[in-house]
Amino acid sequence: MSESEVIPRWWIEVGEAEIARIAEAIRGRHISMGPVTAAFEEAIGHYLGVAHVVCVPSGSMALTMALMAAGVGPGDEVLVPDRTWIATATAPRLLGARVVLVDVRADGLVIDESQVEERITARTRAILPVHVNGTPAALGPLLEIAKRHGVTLIEDACQAFSSRYQGRCLGTFGRFGCFSLGLNKLLTTGQGGFVVCHDADDARLLRRIRNQGLSGADLSECHQISGSNFKFTDIQAAMGLAQMERLPARVEHQRAVYRAYAAGLADIPWLELTRVDLDAGQVPLRTEYVCLHREALIEALRRHDIIAEPQAPCLHQYGFLASDRTFPHAERYCSTLLMLPSGPEQPLAHVQRTINVIRQVAPEIERMVGSGARGIMSSPTTVRA
Ligand SMILES: Cc1ncc(COP(=O)(O)O)c(C=O)c1O
Repeated sequence: MSESEVIPRWWIEVGEAEIARIAEAIRGRHISMGPVTAAFEEAIGHYLGVAHVVCVPSGSMALTMALMAAGVGPGDEVLVPDRTWIATATAPRLLGARVVLVDVRADGLVIDESQVEERITARTRAILPVHVNGTPAALGPLLEIAKRHGVTLIEDACQAFSSRYQGRCLGTFGRFGCFSLGLNKLLTTGQGGFVVCHDADDARLLRRIRNQGLSGADLSECHQISGSNFKFTDIQAAMGLAQMERLPARVEHQRAVYRAYAAGLADIPWLELTRVDLDAGQVPLRTEYVCLHREALIEALRRHDIIAEPQAPCLHQYGFLASDRTFPHAERYCSTLLMLPSGPEQPLAHVQRTINVIRQVAPEIERMVGSGARGIMSSPTTVRA
């Protein structure tokens, strides 16, 4: 690798194995949704240890369809953490539901479960915790609250494929779990997603929603359930099956990247690694830091052809999600979070070069803006459950 090569923010391989599988699908005339999709769904179900998997066009549509299956509609309320990718909120909005934002925890990026119950009203239909960057929301208390109030818990596990909590894969705890197969995920089909569930009736309902309300050839069925065309394709599934063979190596690589950054930057006082508990089976999707001098560091890295990226704004900062509440923890994270070059096949040499450059520019940044201190992620590491 030459020193001048640009290091991208994300690196994922798609190669000959995927091409061969896609060619095989097309040669077999498996193009739209059919047996290859069914095989992919079965393979994911086996991997996650869940009975039913329904492939759909995106993680966003997975969330939308899970909400539809839970009966969410106009006037209903859905609880969503203030810090997540916008898709978690646009899904309920698409169905005419009201998004009720909840701050995240002081010591992590997931919904603050202690603030959830006070936000539940007679109109609340669902809680949508997000397992940010492979770290679990407090599933124990959240499942209990959902049960007590008769609302559906839907896990947004789009950033948590393969990540485990108490030995079980995230996304398999709630009534529905939603996953993305986008390009910036651990497993990709270009675009794509899937919903998982445990109940055969729920799976049947999701499949009907996916196909305009139909479960077979009886066209009168589509008058009973309102769905749409949310189908997957066998071409995508063929690619997904090839990608699945890369999974064990990818999980190990994600951990290795995280460990390398953690070791290489441990003594920089204004960089605080967001915690992912590798020993507990969590898998980081990317390596993220709370960075007190974020913009200065992004610019310094850019001058060395290294692309680091700030995280998206808090949801309440989007005009259409404005709230009269305050979200101090989410705001602190949104103004400081930085993703360093990551990805399932980001070469470790890139990671090392990024570490070297950060160490090289650190004194200059400190002279410019001061050294700052850690402590934004202040409290203990463990997630209550
Ligand atoms: C937390 C979260 N939810 C939902 C999504 C939406 O997934 P997709 O981009 O496949 O629609 C993403 C995608 O990045 C995400 O990170």
